Amino acid sequence: MKRLFLLACCLALPAAAEDTRQLVKLTQQAQETLRLEMIDNLMALNQILSLLAGNQVKEAGRVAEERLGKTAMGKNARLPFEARPGPQMPPEMHEIGRQGHFTASEFAAAAATGDRQAALEKLPSLMNACIGCHASYRTR
Ligand code: HEC
Repeated sequence: MKRLFLLACCLALPAAAEDTRQLVKLTQQAQETLRLEMIDNLMALNQILSLLAGNQVKEAGRVAEERLGKTAMGKNARLPFEARPGPQMPPEMHEIGRQGHFTASEFAAAAATGDRQAALEKLPSLMNACIGCHASYRTR
């Protein structure tokens, strides 16, 4: 039994070590902008989950719209070009990010009605863009 387990580990490791994602070169400043935005994304998701769990459905919708939705788009436009990750991304990668904002707004609209079931049904789609982009691209 133990040996079988070890074998499974060894078989799984080489595949996990190989990173086939496309490497995208961003300037140092753009990477820093992206990193801060990403940490905020993660915190926003956690806040949304906590609010939903506490039955504060409309509040969850408000956080989703402001931090992840269409309202959160374009806030880097005032930065110098070298600090803006979006325009430095391949168009397909940038599009995943844009779609992520749209889906977050769809979740926000469902949650704004206060209907918890409707919000829960849209909840998994909140992470589609995170997963789609992270599975396909890396910056280092
Ligand atoms: C358009 C592509 C894209 C989307 C969409 C995206 N990410 Fe990222 N994310 C990246 C890239 C690229 C990095 C690596 C940044 C770097 O360090 O260069 C990253 C890094 C991160 C990190 C690590 C930050 C650190 O401390 O280094 C977290 C956490 C993260 N993303 C969370 C999320 C969450 C949550 C979502 C969805 C709400 C999301 N991301 C959506 C591209 C994306």
